[in-house]
Amino acid sequence: MSLAVCGIAAASTLMLGLGDPPEPEGPGGGQYVILANNDLGMHCMMRDFSHFMILPPFNTVQAVVIKRGNDPDVIDISEGSDFTVDFSVPGNTHSSTKSNFWEYDEALLGVDLPPDIGLTGNGLSGQLEAMQHKWEITGVPITPEDDAGRVNPYQLAKLSVYKEGTGLVAQTQTVVPVSWELSCNVCHGDPSPGMNVEVDVLRDHDRLHNTNLEANQPVFCAACHADPALGAPGQAGVSTFSSAMHGAHADRLGDLPASFDNQCYACHPGRRAQCQRDVHSSRGLDCVSCHGEMSDVGAPTRTPWVDEPRCADCHSRPGFEFEQPGKLFRESVGHGGVSCFACHGSPHAITPATTETDNLQAILHQGFAGVISDCTVCHTRTPDEPFFHSRDD
Ligand code: HEC
Ligand code: HEC
Ligand code: HEC
Ligand code: HEC
Ligand code: HEC
Ligand code: HEC
Ligand code: HEC
Repeated sequence: MSLAVCGIAAASTLMLGLGDPPEPEGPGGGQYVILANNDLGMHCMMRDFSHFMILPPFNTVQAVVIKRGNDPDVIDISEGSDFTVDFSVPGNTHSSTKSNFWEYDEALLGVDLPPDIGLTGNGLSGQLEAMQHKWEITGVPITPEDDAGRVNPYQLAKLSVYKEGTGLVAQTQTVVPVSWELSCNVCHGDPSPGMNVEVDVLRDHDRLHNTNLEANQPVFCAACHADPALGAPGQAGVSTFSSAMHGAHADRLGDLPASFDNQCYACHPGRRAQCQRDVHSSRGLDCVSCHGEMSDVGAPTRTPWVDEPRCADCHSRPGFEFEQPGKLFRESVGHGGVSCFACHGSPHAITPATTETDNLQAILHQGFAGVISDCTVCHTRTPDEPFFHSRDD
């Protein structure tokens, strides 16, 4: 499988693919700038929904649009009606021939979606919606397989900002990461031919918990196990989905072959997809450094998807503030109302990333990879006052 790990030469070819940028004055040129990122560093989906569903295709891309100036202006819902922000993934324009999600949506979720339309009504291209501080397109039902049949977990999106009366004013490219590399098969599935991995999972569940899942396929796991990622309340008295999966498997990972040097990749994508490919992986931190062990993730006292690590757990630097209280990294803003992700990238892909495609956007805007640190990406001239890294509560 191609991971599209291209060198700088390939990166500039990709950038040329954008066409002439508006007012091309090199990095920092133009009247407007857009910085976009996927909300999660990797979205994990299933490919085959005929047996059960863990997570559907559902990527969410957010963007910050800034009017450059001595006092840069974050364009959001307050003046958003003059702007449109278009989203597309060149070369990946449909999904319904790549996954059977659209055959089982009604049985699993009670909604019959048109082909290639996701759970929030968006397709593989469309427009972002203006929010406070940012723009967003939710539930894009993209798969890791492009239209030519190549599987690549780092799909590259193109975003274009149009201003009423002016036309195209800014563009960017960002990775829309998605993978179906779940390795349940490493432990599940009978060696006898015809025994399916998913059926084996359902059979184990029925035997151990006295349920009747095998006879009721396709099964929506979150119908009983609460899952905040899907807004599913679950059933009273049944463990959350995250707690069930991590808690029950905590003592089973010893069965993994030694090639799984990162045991979390038994279920998370993955040994090939490398969902964690950020500055931390190059400094030797892995999943457990930030999230703790399986039993910590599975602790029933946690609220899954909400009680997550925070930059401030480890980082402290005089004068620097990090996440806003009660908000996740992906929701927080700092430095004049600019979202953290605009300068740092998505969690698990915090720049400089180990993958060239994740570094493209910073290279496009400031000429080098890493945190957006060139003031003139947003300020028309380098401010006299020093940089401040305080959040806006
Ligand atoms: C490291 C090996 C391993 C991996 C990887 C693994 N499992 Fe399991 N799983 C087990 C073992 C062992 C059991 C217990 C089987 C038994 O007692 O018959 C089990 C049981 C289960 C059960 C039954 C309920 C229970 O009490 O645990 C479910 C459901 C399940 N696994 C789902 C999954 C899914 C879904 C994946 C992939 C996302 C997965 N497992 C990956 C080893 C694994
Ligand atoms: C009909 C309701 C129902 C559905 C649907 C269901 N489960 Fe369960 N599951 C339970 C119950 C009840 C238990 C045992 C009590 C508990 O864990 O809270 C359980 C236990 C588990 C456990 C073991 C938890 C532990 O701590 O030992 C795992 C793992 C699990 N389920 C995974 C899954 C997966 C994966 C799916 C989808 C394929 C699924 N469940 C679908 C009801 C359900
Ligand atoms: C046996 C399979 C399995 C293994 C191994 C596994 N996970 Fe997960 N993990 C899942 C599944 C399934 C979900 C999705 C749960 C949901 O949709 O709520 C998940 C979701 C998560 C989440 C988001 C939900 C939450 O609880 O906040 C975190 C964080 C997480 N895993 C961390 C880890 C870490 C860290 C490891 C390794 C120590 C790990 N996982 C290993 C199956 C696994
Ligand atoms: C440097 C710390 C760090 C490391 C290393 C790390 N995570 Fe995370 N993880 C986070 C943070 C921070 C969040 C919450 C993101 C937010 O606030 O928007 C998170 C959230 C998650 C979530 C919930 C979905 C999401 O992206 O918000 C999952 C699943 C997850 N991590 C799995 C993993 C796995 C699997 C690994 C290893 C392959 C890993 N993490 C490594 C810090 C880390
Ligand atoms: C578990 C602790 C932990 C968490 C949580 C964590 N980091 Fe880090 N981070 C580190 C360590 C350790 C280093 C490496 C420091 C070094 O090499 O001097 C690092 C390095 C970095 C660097 C590179 C800094 C440099 O000097 O080059 C950046 C940027 C960074 N982290 C951003 C973040 C962001 C953003 C978050 C939250 C989304 C975060 N970190 C969460 C521990 C953590
Ligand atoms: C306008 C761009 C910008 C925004 C917005 C921004 N940062 Fe930063 N951040 C930076 C720069 C520049 C550095 C310093 C990098 C260096 O020292 O090389 C930094 C450093 C960091 C570090 C590493 C600190 C250390 O220990 O050296 C963390 C963690 C961090 N930021 C988190 C956040 C969080 C959380 C938010 C949102 C509340 C945020 N940042 C918003 C530009 C930004
Ligand atoms: C990603 C965009 C972005 C980057 C990069 C950026 N800034 Fe800003 N900056 C802003 C925004 C937005 C404001 C808020 C302006 C306002 O409130 O009117 C701001 C405000 C400021 C202010 C407050 C005074 C003023 O001009 O409004 C200072 C000082 C400042 N930035 C310094 C810096 C320095 C120094 C750097 C480079 C190290 C930098 N900024 C990089 C977006 C950015």
